[in-house]
Amino acid sequence: MLRCCNHDLMHRLNSHTQPPRNTSLLALIALFISIVMNCGLTPAFAQNDLSVGRKMLLEDNPGELWIDDGKALFFQVRGPKQASLERCDFGLGPGKLEGAAARLPRYFADTKRVEDLESRLLTCMTQLQGFERSALERNAISEPASRGSEIEALALYITSRSNGHPIQVSLDHPQEKAMYKAGEYLFFRRSGTNDFGCVQCHGEPDKRIRLQDLAPLTTHRGAQEVAASWPAYRGAHYVVRTLQWRLNDCVWQMRLPDLKYATDYSIALTTYLNRTGNGAPVQVPGFKR
Ligand code: HEC
Repeated sequence: MLRCCNHDLMHRLNSHTQPPRNTSLLALIALFISIVMNCGLTPAFAQNDLSVGRKMLLEDNPGELWIDDGKALFFQVRGPKQASLERCDFGLGPGKLEGAAARLPRYFADTKRVEDLESRLLTCMTQLQGFERSALERNAISEPASRGSEIEALALYITSRSNGHPIQVSLDHPQEKAMYKAGEYLFFRRSGTNDFGCVQCHGEPDKRIRLQDLAPLTTHRGAQEVAASWPAYRGAHYVVRTLQWRLNDCVWQMRLPDLKYATDYSIALTTYLNRTGNGAPVQVPGFKR
């Protein structure tokens, strides 16, 4: 695997336009699983044999390649203000990354807001590095089978520095409490033309759409598995995806208007999800279908 990874990394570094095709073996396995999962096989197969396959994929996760990209971007001096992100405070002090992502979202006194990882990144990339916020938002979620976005790579690198740290979202600050309450409300609220609420798909265990298991997100255990595993490599897209992307995709499934990137709607839902998942050791990148 090591040879495969190095080879792939070289390929990605040498090509700015080509997708990471030399993860081909892994991508093919992922594609096979993705096809099988969409073909109407029995739930028992999904629960057992496929979960074995998923576990094997996790051991050789192509998403790991994005960690190096994110690390390089974090330390690189760039942007109109020619700064690195080393002075960015993710809650434990400037540049202190160990365990910081495991405590997000949290209240930040400088912005007087509750921020999740991605909105905090936007804060630092605009204030410290001088990037334009609208451009960052526009490019935050990459095209499938691309090299991925800077924010996707950075989010993964920063979260990976919390690997092994238990999720510990605090609700001590009144704004953190309010954000959690808003997230809980939104999770259970039914809205839109189809009268959908998150709870209809994620409120009970052992539910699925086609062959996709629907994570039960109201239970501690269910939320733990999810909260600890994002950002994740998305097999069907060949790129690393963040939680903001996942939430936007579910909002699309609910036929609601597109989620505006890194706004309070998703920060509230993330606060609710991560708080419910407290205690789980972070382990990223996850590997998703
Ligand atoms: C119509 C059903 C439906 C609704 C409603 C829905 N989702 Fe989802 N959700 C899905 C599907 C399908 C997946 C992907 C499963 C897969 O690909 O394996 C998913 C995946 C997720 C995941 C990732 C789970 C994991 O394995 O890591 C999260 C988090 C999530 N949804 C949150 C939400 C939230 C929050 C809402 C409400 C804003 C919501 N979903 C509404 C169907 C739904």
